[in-house]
Amino acid sequence: MRKIAMASHRLLPLSGETKDRKPASLERTGLVEGEASAEEVVVAYHERTKHHFHRYAASLGYMDWATQPDPFRRYAGADLVRLPLPKAGRPLPYWQLYASAIVPLMPLSLESVSFFFRYALSLTAWKQVGDTTWPLRANPSSGNLHPTEGYAVLPAIKGLGDTPAVYHYAPKEHALERRAIFDAKRWTELLAPFPDGSFLVGLSSVHWREAWKYGERAFRYCQHDVGHALASLRIAAAALGWRLVLLDSVSDGTLSNLLGLDRDEDFAAAEREEAELLALISQDLQAPLLTESKPLTAHGSSVLWQGRANTLSPEHRVEWPVIDAIAQATRRCESPPIKENFSGFPSEDELFRTPIRQGLLTAERAILGRRSAVAMDGSTAISRAVFFRMLARLIPTQEQQAMPWDAIPWRPRIHIGLFVHRVDGLAPGIYALARDPDKVDILKRVMHSEFCWHRVPDCPPGLPLYLLREGDCRALATTVSCGQNIAGDGAFSLAMIADYMDSLAMYGSGFYRNLFWEAGMVGQLLYLEAEESGLRATGIGCYFDDPVHAAFGIVSREWQSFYHFTVGGPVEDSRLTTLPTYNFEEQQ
Ligand SMILES: Cc1cc2nc3c(=O)[nH]c(=O)nc-3n(C[C@H](O)[C@H](O)[C@H](O)COP(=O)(O)O)c2cc1C
Repeated sequence: MRKIAMASHRLLPLSGETKDRKPASLERTGLVEGEASAEEVVVAYHERTKHHFHRYAASLGYMDWATQPDPFRRYAGADLVRLPLPKAGRPLPYWQLYASAIVPLMPLSLESVSFFFRYALSLTAWKQVGDTTWPLRANPSSGNLHPTEGYAVLPAIKGLGDTPAVYHYAPKEHALERRAIFDAKRWTELLAPFPDGSFLVGLSSVHWREAWKYGERAFRYCQHDVGHALASLRIAAAALGWRLVLLDSVSDGTLSNLLGLDRDEDFAAAEREEAELLALISQDLQAPLLTESKPLTAHGSSVLWQGRANTLSPEHRVEWPVIDAIAQATRRCESPPIKENFSGFPSEDELFRTPIRQGLLTAERAILGRRSAVAMDGSTAISRAVFFRMLARLIPTQEQQAMPWDAIPWRPRIHIGLFVHRVDGLAPGIYALARDPDKVDILKRVMHSEFCWHRVPDCPPGLPLYLLREGDCRALATTVSCGQNIAGDGAFSLAMIADYMDSLAMYGSGFYRNLFWEAGMVGQLLYLEAEESGLRATGIGCYFDDPVHAAFGIVSREWQSFYHFTVGGPVEDSRLTTLPTYNFEEQQ
């Protein structure tokens, strides 16, 4: 394991108070002076983009509405294939998402591809106030700016295309844009390492969409959003009886090439997309998905591309070179796949006592009905059973079987510091959930020495849940979440504390992105679990980093808070009306 040399003296200082948020990056070209390793750039970026009580991370500081980015990427000139959907939908119960062995398998077809994107990345509502309307999606996004773009590399499918092709998903139309076609020989070569019937999905980020509003911290939010979208893809696959695994050994260069993101001629002045990840989807529940095989090969000249990316903003009045620097520092080379041993994790029985095999909510309602609460009521309490079940969903099981944790190959690096406000039968206070049972001891060492670390009585034996300190922490939770009342008014809120420096030392600077992805996946599960319980959740990207660490007594930079969340009884905004998204049957 490599040790990261900390070079804090080389970090460039930020200037300006909250009221004077000058885009510091305009005056400076980078994050660190002189030679610096990629890991040092990551550490410098993370420090620099912290929100402090007296100073937020650098952003424009006002909304430049004239340059608001278009949330919909389109490729002019690419064929658009609309995806059909029956209004009736699928009756699959929500709980079956987590019991994959009994989900009826949908064969790969135009219809199943349509369901897949519908559940993963589609529009799920248009909201309206007065004359203003805006769309919301199955996957959430910081500021609803939606930097994440979705792609698929699919074989010839009746009604979709006569040849294998690279497609871009267009959520507004619920359609696939055919970006490239290739022949059966190339398809066989590309998919050779994987079981028959597999296909690929990819995600990218348009940094500009988030940076337009959030400035330098935007890279973090783009990564959170990728994590939410990855979980969304995994959950959509589960609803169809499919498996999904992250192909973590693919280099960013190969990924850009496979998705067509490296094609200067197709982007011209349009905002570029950063390649994020590639995942394999398989209908084969038995075959090992990842074998020791040759790496994915880049496309050659036999692949025919079509389409030109649209420009998202008429101009960029501010550039954010710090985001380019952190993107560059976290790009990955071809590397061996991560292989970790999941020994010590609990069985499903130990996590849930009685594994959940009932419930009236359908998977479709949970997925398409998911919404962020804009306010919490400050009064709804939840039962201990619901609380324990939600937390149990966040832990991988013994054989790494639990959905969605079967999609990623590393042991959890994100642990949970909880602010419990109203859980029946539990004292309000600060709690901790170690998502890797082996990390309890080290968490005890890095947090306040006076925390009591009492195992929560009556919680399932496999759930590493501890009371740290009793007391009303509503004001604390609100304060550290940038003063947002949703954190204090929920039944509970939480900080996702990353085993940060050790992860970077183990897997290199590129793993900085993976930490946010894991946090986003935790968040996506909490969103759906809240729906299942008649509650709502909200992701909280705005929090004061070091004050959060102080709340848990964390002084070492080795452990850092990567994301916040709140769960509780929502207050609906009665001024909003909800409009339908698509008129599927009329489109056929
Ligand atoms: C990474 C991330 C950070 C977020 N941060 C906040 C936040 O700090 N405060 C807040 O009220 N909502 C926050 N949200 C919720 C978004 O505003 C919400 O997802 C978006 O408006 C879309 O609405 P929907 O989730 O109902 O689809 C966040 C969401 C994500 C995914």
